[in-house]
Amino acid sequence: MNFSLNLVKWYNNNKRDLPWRRTRDPYKIWLSEIILHQTRVAQGLPYYNNFITHYPTIFDLANASEDSVLKLWQGLGYYSRARNLHYTAKLICKKYAGIFPTSHDEILMLKGVGLYTASAISSFAFKLRYAVLDGNVIRVLSRIYGVYSYYDSTIGKKDLLILAEKKLPIKDSDIYNQAIMEFGALVCKPKKPKCIDCIFNETCYAFNRSVVNELPRKLKKIKVTNRYINFLIISHKDIVYIIKKQKGIWSGLYTFPFIEHSKMLDNKDVVLSKEWSDFFTNINFVIHHVSTCIIHKLSHQKLHVKFWHLKSDLLNLEGYKPIKFSKLNEYPVSRLIDIYLADNNIC
Ligand code: ADE
Repeated sequence: MNFSLNLVKWYNNNKRDLPWRRTRDPYKIWLSEIILHQTRVAQGLPYYNNFITHYPTIFDLANASEDSVLKLWQGLGYYSRARNLHYTAKLICKKYAGIFPTSHDEILMLKGVGLYTASAISSFAFKLRYAVLDGNVIRVLSRIYGVYSYYDSTIGKKDLLILAEKKLPIKDSDIYNQAIMEFGALVCKPKKPKCIDCIFNETCYAFNRSVVNELPRKLKKIKVTNRYINFLIISHKDIVYIIKKQKGIWSGLYTFPFIEHSKMLDNKDVVLSKEWSDFFTNINFVIHHVSTCIIHKLSHQKLHVKFWHLKSDLLNLEGYKPIKFSKLNEYPVSRLIDIYLADNNIC
């Protein structure tokens, strides 16, 4: 029996029962794939269920406000996924009368949909014969077949796609696609793969040469930037000031005003800095409390953050939205702010 047949047999005996595997509705499959991109199933599943409950159809999603979509997305990270999801739902309702496009080419044109997602939707919703190539598939194929080309290089991507297409069965390619992703998630895992129990261990290139941890190969190392951020929780009675960010990692989310420095400063030097005095021109305030430094790691950034609690007699802070503290939890905020507010019983 060949690789693909064995894999599907394994899948039929070991697959998880996941809601997006019980539907052919392209809207639900699209939603699941956007959520699962960069996110593990265990983390993404409650978000998927919550989205389907709030927005059972693409029209419900399209008619929602961006703030409520982002609020439901809160905590998942990579918020551009949610903004693009909302944008595309509106476009499909307007341009295609709410009917999801059915060809790979059209799906690929949608904002926020790359090659992997277009192939996944084409395969799972429409049973079109496209090979999916996500991190799981890349890992399984690289290890079993000994692919040494860098998967993040143009040549490496092409090599892997050719191999993936070669292994894709003619019949039920959608089940095979689910199977190879499931195998990567449950057996051929990035760390501590279950090689001893693996049905392919007799023939696996990497296992038999003890190079499992060397494959797949990546060319570019992620460069992590350090950022030094002081959030300003400026309050006046029960009012606090927030702003909806228009760009950067928190685009679409609400944050407190913040000032940023190029290096770590102690509190005294923060107050003496140009950034601080530029912000506080003509504003009277008293510093009530400063949090300790919180480290928040994202994929490409390491944030060094302090929260400054300031009391002011301000009635209006130009460019910022005054809201009641008690309403803060109605706004979509970053995980970092959400955790801080929860840990400190604010709002
Ligand atoms: N990761 C990405 N897509 C997936 C799917 N359809 N099932 C399980 N994990 C996935």
